[in-house]
Amino acid sequence: VAPELQDRHQRQHTYLRISLTERCNLRCTYCMPAEGVPLTPTEKLLTSEELQRLARLFVGAGVTKIRLTGGEPTVRKDIVDILRPLGLQSIGMTSNGIALKRKLPALVAHGLGVLNVSLDTLDPFKFEIMTRRRGMERVLESVDEAIRVGVPKVKMNCVVVRGVNDREVLDFVALTRDRPVDMRFIEYMPFGGNRWEQKKLVPYRELLAAIEEQHGSLEKLSDDPHDTSKAYRVPGHAGQIGFITSMSDHFCGTCNRLRITADGHLKVCLFGNEEVNLRDRMRDGETDEQLLAAIGAGVKRKRAQHAGMDVLASSDNRPMILIGG
Ligand code: GTP
Ligand code: 5AD
Ligand code: SF4
Repeated sequence: VAPELQDRHQRQHTYLRISLTERCNLRCTYCMPAEGVPLTPTEKLLTSEELQRLARLFVGAGVTKIRLTGGEPTVRKDIVDILRPLGLQSIGMTSNGIALKRKLPALVAHGLGVLNVSLDTLDPFKFEIMTRRRGMERVLESVDEAIRVGVPKVKMNCVVVRGVNDREVLDFVALTRDRPVDMRFIEYMPFGGNRWEQKKLVPYRELLAAIEEQHGSLEKLSDDPHDTSKAYRVPGHAGQIGFITSMSDHFCGTCNRLRITADGHLKVCLFGNEEVNLRDRMRDGETDEQLLAAIGAGVKRKRAQHAGMDVLASSDNRPMILIGG
C-alpha cells in the first residue's frame, strides 16, 4: 500500500468503510438517542461524485475492500454501481434489512459481494423495544431472500445487551442449523448518546460457555488476520457463528480499517475523535496529492489501540448512527 495508508504501528489500511447517509428507518437504542440526532444539511453531505473521487483515491493508494454503511445505506443503491469500475476485491454493505428485500436482486446485479444484516432479537415485541420501530419479520425475510438470490456471503449481526436480548443467543445459534449464514454476536460498545453501561455488556466468553453447554464443544474455524470476529461452528450446522469482542478482547493490533463519514470526514478509528475534513478540502480545490497527504497525516495520528471501556464511555465520540460501525 501507499505509505499514506500505513500507520506508526505497522498497520496497513486496505479496508475502507463509507457511510452513505445519516438517515435510518429504525431508531435502535444502542445507536442513537430517542430524540434522534441533528442531521447534517444536505449540502454538507458528500455527493456521489465526491464519494467516487475519494473511493478512487483510496483504491489507488491500496484499499482492496469497501463496505457501505450508514445510517441505513440501502437508500443509495446506485453507489454499488459507482464503485464497481474500481475493480475491488470486495464490495460489502451493512444494512438493517428493513427495506432490503426488494432491492436485493439489483444490488447483486450491481456487484454486492458481502451483506451484513443487523438483527438483535427474534421476538417482535422486543424488536419494537430495541429499535423503537416494527419490522422484525421483514428483516428475517431479507436475510432469507439474500441467501436465495445468491449474495455470495451473508452475515448477521446481533448486539447483545444484558437483560434485553441475552437469553436469545441459543435461538440465534439455531438459525445457523440450515442457513449458510455467519451469525455474529457483538459486544455492546459505548458511543455518544447510547447510555452504555458496563453491566449491560456480556463478554463473549460467557456466550461461548452458554452455547457450548447446549451444543458441546464448538468447532473453531480459522480467522482471517483482519477479521473483526472469532469464528466457530456448531458441528453439523450449515452456517457458522462468530464473536466480535471489541470490549473484552479488542483486535486493534490487526486493524486495517479507515472510515469516511457521510459528511466527508476521515475517521481513522471507530473510537477516535480526531477527524480529517476531506469534504472541505475537496471543495477548496485541493488536488489528489494534497488530499492524500492530509489522509496520510490523519493515519499517522491513529493510536495503537482504543482507550478502554471506561474512557470510551465518557468520551464525546459521535453517536454510532453518524459513524456506521
Ligand atoms: P466484514 O467486512 O464482513 O468483515 O464486516 P465487519 O465486521 O467489519 O463490519 P460490520 O459492519 O458488520 O460490523 C460489525 C461490528 O463490528 C459492528 O459492531 C462494528 O461497529 C464493529 N466493527 C467494525 N469495524 C471495527 C473496528 O475497526 N473496530 C472495532 N472495535 N469494531 C469494529
Ligand atoms: N455496539 C456494538 N455494535 C453496534 N452497532 C451499532 N451500535 C453498536 C454498539 N453500540 C452495530 C450495528 C450494525 C453494525 C454496523 O454496528 O448493529 O450491525
Ligand atoms: Fe481499529 Fe480503532 Fe477498532 Fe481498534 S478500536 S480495531 S484501532 S478502529
